Amino acid sequence: MTISKVVTVLVIGCGARGEIYSKYALAHPDLMKVVGVAEPREDYRIPFVQMHSIEKEAIFLDWKEAANKAKMADAVLICTQDNMHLEPAIAFARLGYHILLEKPMSPVETECETIVNEVIKNKVMFTVGHVLRYTTYTKKLKEILGTHIIGDVVSIQHLEPVGYWHQAHSFVRGNWGNTAKSSFMLLAKSCHDVDWLNYLMDTKCIRISSFGNLTHFRKENRPPNAANKCIDCAAESNCPYSAKKIYLGTTPKAKSSTLKILSADPSQENLVKVLERSQYGTCVYDCDNDVVDHQIVNMEFEQGQTVSFTMTAFTPMSDRKTRIFGSHGQIEGDGRYIHVTTFLDDKTQIYDTEADNLSVVSDNPYIKDMAGHGGGDYYLMAHFIDAIRTNDPSKILSGPEQTLASHHMVFKAEESRLNSKVIEL
Ligand SMILES: NC(=O)c1ccc[n+]([C@@H]2O[C@H](COP(=O)([O-])OP(=O)(O)OC[C@H]3O[C@@H](n4cnc5c(N)ncnc54)[C@H](O)[C@@H]3O)[C@@H](O)[C@H]2O)c1
Repeated sequence: MTISKVVTVLVIGCGARGEIYSKYALAHPDLMKVVGVAEPREDYRIPFVQMHSIEKEAIFLDWKEAANKAKMADAVLICTQDNMHLEPAIAFARLGYHILLEKPMSPVETECETIVNEVIKNKVMFTVGHVLRYTTYTKKLKEILGTHIIGDVVSIQHLEPVGYWHQAHSFVRGNWGNTAKSSFMLLAKSCHDVDWLNYLMDTKCIRISSFGNLTHFRKENRPPNAANKCIDCAAESNCPYSAKKIYLGTTPKAKSSTLKILSADPSQENLVKVLERSQYGTCVYDCDNDVVDHQIVNMEFEQGQTVSFTMTAFTPMSDRKTRIFGSHGQIEGDGRYIHVTTFLDDKTQIYDTEADNLSVVSDNPYIKDMAGHGGGDYYLMAHFIDAIRTNDPSKILSGPEQTLASHHMVFKAEESRLNSKVIEL
């Protein structure tokens, strides 16, 4: 197989994720070039085509049109919604493309297995968007664990603070609020965390259990004077979940990249129109959401180590928090700082992992744009493109087998939550 020096990429779905990953080509034109796109939404496709100077014959409205052509690039980024991963993954694997597939692989467990079998059978490189594995923070954490300075890892406590308005945006009003339309919460959001914990443990999970509920974002919690749309709501001033507070004004709670999810041109005028017409402007107590707003997962690993994980909506926006308890020390981490305490001398050493994080310290605006997930967005692409350029799949940290193993854990945890039982893996 000939690998071009500049890796050529076809992008399937240039929504939020497709656009971000593609910025790697703008940051490093000597390493990657976007040569094709399939995207049905014109207002997202046109600026993307211009940004990457894509030739007319490589612009498609549907991934199937691109898959019906002969292979036109070294790799494909499949960034469609959760329930639209299976078919393109199979089609492009059969065409011989190396694949970056967004997480989760699929909301159906057997489909995840099918995807993994196909990429292995077709001998293509395959990575899943488990960006947390790639951050400078995780790299340092793995390095510290590898030194054995805290002895054997005995247990881990991990929190995913989803954030109150982020929950409302993505998991109540937005794309991942309804299980039948997308995925259950643990798969949509916390497959990252289960995968990351599994990566840190580096041994086999043998038992898993979970509890979780949709406690708050329910119709019965709607204030009596609330309207269906926040724009017209008498209770709006007292509501932290108000769409007006999240999306409108000069200091919205949402970042500009989140506003772009609502409209390709997120002017106040366009955002108001979206809030009037779509569920993004609907009362959080009046949506079609059914995914949990808090969940815990307990895991037991093969040498008896235990891990407890909490996902909750009810936090400010902040980074994940982790405590790792070892036989000879403890580590506390918050996505940037790592505090290592050793029991022998009761001393604590603090590492700041931001100094090595290019997505924070670089002057390149495109690299800075890829700072999401602690720089994981940037480093995932760096590893994927490097793996292709050097024909070395070992540079991929979230490959088919690792991802399938942690996806299985997620499906089993959900089975536990739904059936109130501990599941053996
Ligand atoms: N790795 C992460 O941390 C992370 C974060 C957020 C989302 N995701 C995952 O990434 C995926 C995409 O999420 P997103 O937020 O970018 O969604 P999005 O809706 O912004 O983008 C999906 C794009 O696919 C396009 N599309 C629809 N049908 C298509 C077709 N037939 N052919 C080609 N394109 C088509 C849509 O028009 C849209 O632009 C999801 O699976 C999501 O769960 C991953």
